[in-house]
Amino acid sequence: MERFSIEGPVRLSGTVTASGAKNAALPALAATLLTDQPVELARVPRVRDIRTMTRLLEHLGAECAASGSVVRVGGWPGGDHAEAPYELVKTMRASILVLGPLLARRGFARVSLPGGCAIGVRPIDEHLRGLQALGAAIEVEEGYVTARAERLVGTRFRFQVPSVTGTENVMMAATHARGTTRLENCAREAEIADLAELLTAMGAHIQGAGSEVIEIEGVDSLHGARHQVIADRIEAGTYLLAAAITGGDVTVDGARAEDLSPLTAALHDTGVEVEPTGSGMRCRGNGALAATRLETAPHPGFPTDLQAQFMALLTQAEGTSTIRESVFENRFQHVPELNRLGADIRTAGRLAIVQGPRRLTGTGVMATDLRASACLVLAALVAHGTTVVDRIYHLDRGYESMESKLQSLGARVERVDQPMDL
Ligand code: UD1
Repeated sequence: MERFSIEGPVRLSGTVTASGAKNAALPALAATLLTDQPVELARVPRVRDIRTMTRLLEHLGAECAASGSVVRVGGWPGGDHAEAPYELVKTMRASILVLGPLLARRGFARVSLPGGCAIGVRPIDEHLRGLQALGAAIEVEEGYVTARAERLVGTRFRFQVPSVTGTENVMMAATHARGTTRLENCAREAEIADLAELLTAMGAHIQGAGSEVIEIEGVDSLHGARHQVIADRIEAGTYLLAAAITGGDVTVDGARAEDLSPLTAALHDTGVEVEPTGSGMRCRGNGALAATRLETAPHPGFPTDLQAQFMALLTQAEGTSTIRESVFENRFQHVPELNRLGADIRTAGRLAIVQGPRRLTGTGVMATDLRASACLVLAALVAHGTTVVDRIYHLDRGYESMESKLQSLGARVERVDQPMDL
């Protein structure tokens, strides 16, 4: 099992380029099932979740060819094979994104209930309710969701919870429905607007994606398209936080200010400034960090996917900080690991209380999920001595070439494949 060995402390400086957004590329790949024509996606990150999704598309009968960060999907011929089995779906929750497109194209889909990060219960009831509203008959049994509909019919549907992949799933299904669909209380994350841009290039009629209300006028068929996926705001945010925690100076090319404003505001509260450059965003840490209060929320709130990384930063801030995790109920698994490095963090339900600053010292720690892994890497950059981060397969799900990007900024990080010896 591979690990990162990280020597700290270091001060990072330089420029890295943001990869494409995993969470935008995954629905974009699922959307290729809506057409039998080729779709070419550029700036697709080379991370394990993307490979999982292309395997799933191949299993369904679509041909996928990757060349660098361009993935070309030959289109889905249809056929009877509208089933996503557990073996392919278990490692990645986003596999559920094939449900809406398969149902819309074939009138039938059978998809295993998803796995993915162990950060909470993460139900899919909103996806299912939305598809039911479009006229699908849904059954859940033996770990599979089966959905059937001769032809989906446009409707008015309100999400009870603004689910990101739920909004994407129902929006994709509605592109093929007869008539107009109005979706209310939609998630507003940038990845949804990016998916709508691809769908529009494929011939869909969509208004309002990225806002609370999305209107989709169904069409009979979609065609091939080319699309460039947006830059990964979570990856970009992680490198900006790496600058802040190490008192460094890092520019992330490709990062978009509008996607990162909740992070920029939270960093501002700690005394760290982030500024747009012509090509991206630059963060300069000045050493002194102030404690703050943070609460995660759906966009435009502070993203839950940056909560763990921000907590690493707060271990170095002067005073008592609090973080409330409002999106997922079990997303503090990095806390015991940060404490092993010397942090002083207590949790009470969804609240974490961070006392800082604390001198961190290197030791062996265990990554528990994708973003928790990134948090431990950030903490290791300021910990004195060697930190070995175990189970970095979690990191590889969503961060492209993290060690080489960090090395280019001056970090002393190595990928090792040896037993932990600490
Ligand atoms: C997406 C992101 C993930 C991010 C999350 C929140 C992808 C591939 N993943 O996950 O990285 O952490 O958004 O920004 O884009 N919920 C329900 N019923 C549902 C669906 C969700 O109650 O049917 C609840 C969840 O339990 C959670 C909240 O809604 O409390 C948000 O979840 P959701 O937006 O669905 O997350 P994902 O789309 O799975």
